[in-house]
Amino acid sequence: SDFPGLGDVAGKRVLVRSDLNVPLDGSSITDDGRIRASVPTIRALAEAGARVVVTAHLGRPKGAPEAKYSLAPVAGRLGELLGAPVAFATDTVGESATTTVAGLADGQVALLENVRFNAGETSKDEAERLAFAQQLAALADAFVSDGFGVVHRKQASVYDVATLLPHAMGGLVSTEVEVLERLTESPVRPYAVVLGGSKVSDKLGVIDNLLGKADSLLIGGGMVFTFLAAQGHEVGKSLLEADQLETCRGYLARAEELGVKIVLPTDVVVDTTFPSGDVEPHPQVVAADAIPADSLGLDIGPESGKAFAAVLAEAHTVFWNGPMGVFEVAAFAEGTRAVAQALTGVDGLSVVGGGDSAAAVRALGFADSDFGHISTGGGASLEYLEGKTLPGLQILED
Ligand code: 3PG
Repeated sequence: SDFPGLGDVAGKRVLVRSDLNVPLDGSSITDDGRIRASVPTIRALAEAGARVVVTAHLGRPKGAPEAKYSLAPVAGRLGELLGAPVAFATDTVGESATTTVAGLADGQVALLENVRFNAGETSKDEAERLAFAQQLAALADAFVSDGFGVVHRKQASVYDVATLLPHAMGGLVSTEVEVLERLTESPVRPYAVVLGGSKVSDKLGVIDNLLGKADSLLIGGGMVFTFLAAQGHEVGKSLLEADQLETCRGYLARAEELGVKIVLPTDVVVDTTFPSGDVEPHPQVVAADAIPADSLGLDIGPESGKAFAAVLAEAHTVFWNGPMGVFEVAAFAEGTRAVAQALTGVDGLSVVGGGDSAAAVRALGFADSDFGHISTGGGASLEYLEGKTLPGLQILED
């Protein structure tokens, strides 16, 4: 009944921080990938005889309960995946939590209500955060950090609680770190990075750091229009971050100096309106340097999809974060599909990073096993690749 790093956990109350922040449609879970990824650690602890107390967040409530951010649906799904009931506490550190934890037998599992319903969780005031962490710590004898997706957050259930209890790194966090280390320390070349998603401003740190590490950088998604505009092209009504034009020009110049290939789409799929439920899409493929003034780019085009796939076919290491287009609408999903398909054929390590990209590949019908690794971390994996110190990892080392 030994758990790595904690010794004998039988009969002990073990608090596990998991990342169960899954997309919901009302109360139905649209992608349970993060819950599935959390199961092995929870199961291992339960099998070792621990009384497992899981804490997690959902969405970004503002420090007070909000029904739409309840973890109740997640407790149900977690129980199904574990094949054992999960006791759900309707608060995080209050009466329900105390009673629920006290009612656990060895090997049983409880889930506490959304930890962000408590202002102390995300407080910037260290004392307020620590006071809340003390309440969490009072529910347990030991702490296991397994929420990779939150290790970049200096929050009570991620960081402070580790200063108060004997602690260990969970299996999910160690797997994620091992994979990301391979990307940063010893990528087998050629190393290609594919970036998408809506904003360049979310990816500045990662581009900065990866320009010196990768052999090629393929860019799609909403963020590509700022790059196209930086090259002097008209982008019509496409998403454009005017305040990042200079930065993008800087990246293009630096890539050239470093001999890093930046691959931008040569064709894009446009429409005259952003897709919405009541408007039929009218997709049109146009050259990337000839986007009509009344149109907005919603995906990379078929020629670009092929060009991206050709670069990926040569690569031995690939990291991908961010969809290539509005993949939720079938008419604008082909670019994302082409990249996902190309990743499945990589002769080497392929990593899909980020909640959105992971949800995208599953929504498009790919299986987790089609890729080398699907990271559960969005911001966390990006910050890791930026070379930043992640508080939730640092505190486990200290
Ligand atoms: C994520 O969705 O990336 C993680 O669950 C972290 O969520 P946060 O960005 O709200 O801290």
